[in-house]
Amino acid sequence: MLSWDDYEEAPSNDQAVIAQAATEKVAAEESAAIQSAVEIAAPQYTAAPVAQPVVQEAAPAPVVEPTPALVAAEPVAEAPVTAISAESSERVTVDQKAMINCRADLNQLVPFKYEWAWQKYLDGCANHWMPQEVNMTADIALWKSDEGLSDDERTIIKRSLGFFSTADSLVANNLVLAIYRLITNPECRQYLLRQAFEEAIHTHAYQYCIESLGMDEGEIFNMYHEVPSVATKASWAIKYTKEINEPGFNTGTLETDKALLKNLIAYYCVLEGIFFYCGFTQILSMGRRNKMTGTSEQFQYILRDESMHVNFGIDVINQIKLENPELWDQEMQESARNMILEGTTHEVAYARDTMPRGVLGMNANMMEEYLQFIANRRLAQIGLAEQFPGVKNPFPWMSEIMDLKKEKNFFETRVTDYQTGGALTWD
Ligand SMILES: [Fe+2]
Ligand SMILES: [Fe+2]
Repeated sequence: MLSWDDYEEAPSNDQAVIAQAATEKVAAEESAAIQSAVEIAAPQYTAAPVAQPVVQEAAPAPVVEPTPALVAAEPVAEAPVTAISAESSERVTVDQKAMINCRADLNQLVPFKYEWAWQKYLDGCANHWMPQEVNMTADIALWKSDEGLSDDERTIIKRSLGFFSTADSLVANNLVLAIYRLITNPECRQYLLRQAFEEAIHTHAYQYCIESLGMDEGEIFNMYHEVPSVATKASWAIKYTKEINEPGFNTGTLETDKALLKNLIAYYCVLEGIFFYCGFTQILSMGRRNKMTGTSEQFQYILRDESMHVNFGIDVINQIKLENPELWDQEMQESARNMILEGTTHEVAYARDTMPRGVLGMNANMMEEYLQFIANRRLAQIGLAEQFPGVKNPFPWMSEIMDLKKEKNFFETRVTDYQTGGALTWD
């Protein structure tokens, strides 16, 4: 168990050498992986057939416009169970609704089967915020000053903005291009739409910080290609989008249902549930020391959203397991466990890369314990045994911000009041 007294302790020389060697090894391996991921990402619309709209009434053929998707969004040849048309004109009952492979009319939001999904949608809306509401004046002065920020602190800020500015786009693209059509429940889709907009706000927030601070945008937005510890995480997630975004991919078999489940675990449990944690902890620690307070406030709002995204995703994963117990066999459990352990390893490598020395009251060893603590939690949340016995949370203040289990409590900790249109009264 590490204590607060360990804050300024740097790793030993041996550890630093090991970390450096690991970083160089990752650099060599990931350079090839990212190149392949980028090739996957290249849209191939010219060769794509024209999409056949799945609608009941005659309508003009939709124009498929190229979008800057992570993975090329090609039209689906056959009408899947996720089609926008109703397969029958009957009124939907709760019993007909299901998380995946549902054939009931998806245009009928009610009656709700998953009240928790609708509640999360309402909670997300009540949490609405926009990046321009945060005052960045002090950050701009500090960033442009020669004093007040160490080189290590500047590296952390740039790495965080570099990773998150593209990671949120990865999440958004995975949501709208891959997950959305395969989740066959309207109240969950309603939340996915809200989440997708929140991811757009997050990308907006990072861009707002980058622009406000006058950073080199090309450098920051290309870190997911160019900086190994950032690229490793991005390419790890991209590989789980590729399969379920393939043209013609549909759920309905043991193999394809498992592929969707793996995607959900990759994105909700690992990308949003582990890969965000080192950077968020670093930036929030900076804010607690009265540095880069505007950037830190942006991250605090984002964290509040992300906490709900992870909780939603875990509820979806567990509901799919409940409704389709055959999916959760030994092979699937082993895959899920390995994915979470791999993700933890990559995030620890990121911590070592961004914190070669003690900084901001923390060091890489403390972050490793924190990430193991988080990994234990993710494993337990999806019904797997913890893999890091005895680890404790060295950053209890993070729990106050992001580890609250109930969104209602979370709202009480909001940093500023924000009244949404939905909160107005007409009296
Ligand atoms: Fe996000
Ligand atoms: Fe998210």
